[in-house]
Amino acid sequence: MSANDQTLPRPTASYEADPDQVGRVLLLYSGGLDTSVMLKWIQERYGAEVVTLTVNLGQPGEDYSVVEGKARDLGARECHIVDAREEFARDFLTPAIKANAMYGDGYPLFTALGRPLIAKLAVDYARRSGCDTIAHGCTGKGNDQVRIEATIATLAPELKVIAPVRSWQMGREEEIEYARENGIPVKGGTEVAPYSIDDNLWGRSSEGRWIEDLDHAPEEDVFQLVTPPEKAPDEPQIVTVELEQGVPVALDGQRMGLVELLEAAAEIGQRHGVGIVDHIEDRIVGLKVRDIYETPAAAIILTAHKELERLVGTIHQNRFKLALDEQWAYLVYAGLWWEPLRGDLDAYMNAVNAQVTGTIGLKLYKGSVRVVTRSSPNAVYDASLASFAESGGLFSQSASPGFIELFSLQSRMAWRLRNG
Ligand code: ARG
Repeated sequence: MSANDQTLPRPTASYEADPDQVGRVLLLYSGGLDTSVMLKWIQERYGAEVVTLTVNLGQPGEDYSVVEGKARDLGARECHIVDAREEFARDFLTPAIKANAMYGDGYPLFTALGRPLIAKLAVDYARRSGCDTIAHGCTGKGNDQVRIEATIATLAPELKVIAPVRSWQMGREEEIEYARENGIPVKGGTEVAPYSIDDNLWGRSSEGRWIEDLDHAPEEDVFQLVTPPEKAPDEPQIVTVELEQGVPVALDGQRMGLVELLEAAAEIGQRHGVGIVDHIEDRIVGLKVRDIYETPAAAIILTAHKELERLVGTIHQNRFKLALDEQWAYLVYAGLWWEPLRGDLDAYMNAVNAQVTGTIGLKLYKGSVRVVTRSSPNAVYDASLASFAESGGLFSQSASPGFIELFSLQSRMAWRLRNG
């Protein structure tokens, strides 16, 4: 259907709203074009009241008073702006750090981690404001619709969902026309569609335009956060990250809260061109899509965490945890934050991370992050045992041949069977 059709979509899934039952809608509102058009369109087409919710997860440079003013101008009955940075860092980023969360070898999941919190807050505010329906601005091609709707359907079976952008299929031109007709401010020129951006404390993604063209190398204007490495300072910088039980607590010896620490790490990383990822992603909905990521904080913090964790873990713990980290990242990527397996995995992550205390030094230089120093009271490491120079101490080198004989026994027998 187009924006001007009178018919509204009938529900497919049990949690989708029947248009006749929509009375008061909680709209997840970013202040951008799509959700601004939605704010008007829902009032007009559903004859419904709209309450907006805007969640601050640490998007750099956002002016929330402007967002609120816009929502009120467009007829919102109530406007809620929630600063959820602390909760995001404590309940979502902390477990992600403990799980070294990374999807597809490069995406640290900042959007995937933000969506369940945004959807949970939508449920809280919908209930508090007497809404029967939650509206979001996701399209039908992404993972975000899965994350948001799975969360709402899990936490609030009594609430329904509408996703106008997914159902109206308005082209950008129609949308701009609708915006003009309805007094919705349209930023910038209309010739070039902007990148589709999502960002928070843990990173920023850009999609659309030339990014969809796989053999088009990144144009510089996409990097609004991280300095391109070739323009980064010629002097390297050493940064130390101190962790306690898997949680970063100090940067360069200065203790600070996690939100502040992540903001400070991002700032240092940005300067040195760290955390740029050009990524093709296997989406849950079947597509492969290219994203450009800027993840300066994650590049520093995950590198430090992973290194320290390996130092305090045994060979068996370290090998086992890789598989669990991978499973954790997949569940979160796929929008199943509330799946009990994630909690089960967290129990293991917490057990291992009880030992992850110490300090890692990293050298940042023109886009690279390299571990240069490590220290931990829990390191499974003894310098005198590992030493080339010392003859052994507790480590008996004369025991090694017996070990090798038994350790290689089955492999040797099998080789002989096959090769005579
Ligand atoms: N591709 C990433 C993901 O699926 C980032 C999505 C960004 N979302 C957005 N609405 N622009 O998690």
